[in-house]
Amino acid sequence: MKLTSTRVNQSNLQLFIDIIMSTELGRTYYPSDAFLKKEIEKASDDDEMLLLTDGDSKELVGGLWINRRGAFHSFPFLHVIAIKENCQGQGYGRTAMDLFEDICLSSTDGNRLLATKAFLLVNSNNNIAIKMYEKCGYVCVGEVPGLFRKRVNEKIMMKNVRRGTA
Ligand SMILES: CC(C)(COP(=O)(O)OP(=O)(O)OC[C@H]1O[C@@H](n2cnc3c(N)ncnc32)[C@H](O)[C@@H]1OP(=O)(O)O)[C@@H](O)C(=O)NCCC(=O)NCCS
Repeated sequence: MKLTSTRVNQSNLQLFIDIIMSTELGRTYYPSDAFLKKEIEKASDDDEMLLLTDGDSKELVGGLWINRRGAFHSFPFLHVIAIKENCQGQGYGRTAMDLFEDICLSSTDGNRLLATKAFLLVNSNNNIAIKMYEKCGYVCVGEVPGLFRKRVNEKIMMKNVRRGTA
């Protein structure tokens, strides 16, 4: 399976918002489209938002929001991965994780890194996502109670990403 990525810009921003807001993740963390739009507008210049399209069918299947130095101002951070509900369970999530890791190993000046540590946060009740991350090699390195939402804990997950294994 091949995914094609397109940078989010003013003309396709609403598609990105629609994908995130169509998922449980969007509905849990963003009270409205307008709120999410503000968050995107406030994002740092280092944030990268991508729309993901199936390389064969050309169907828009999901989105990624990442920052190559978003963890501790040094390491890649996966902020959002969202696959449209009607496209889930078909391998797009795993392929999007491969794409994320490939981006992790390329610096913005075009140089390739040998290895890095990739981080993400996940709602500790999001068993489907946790299972996917574990299958991709991420391990839980901590848990923060009530980080974004009262009574919702977030697991911090990390993977040693190495060239050739990503
Ligand atoms: C988590 C998410 C990205 C997975 O994407 P996906 O395209 O459905 O995932 P894949 O088809 O590549 O499957 C990857 C793994 O996820 C798990 N998975 C996917 N769908 C599942 C389901 N319905 N039930 C149980 N596990 C499931 C499985 O472990 C699967 O691996 P397997 O096929 O080897 O069993 C997707 O469910 C999603 O966008 N959810 C909403 C947003 C979200 O929660 N994002 C993560 C937090 S930031």
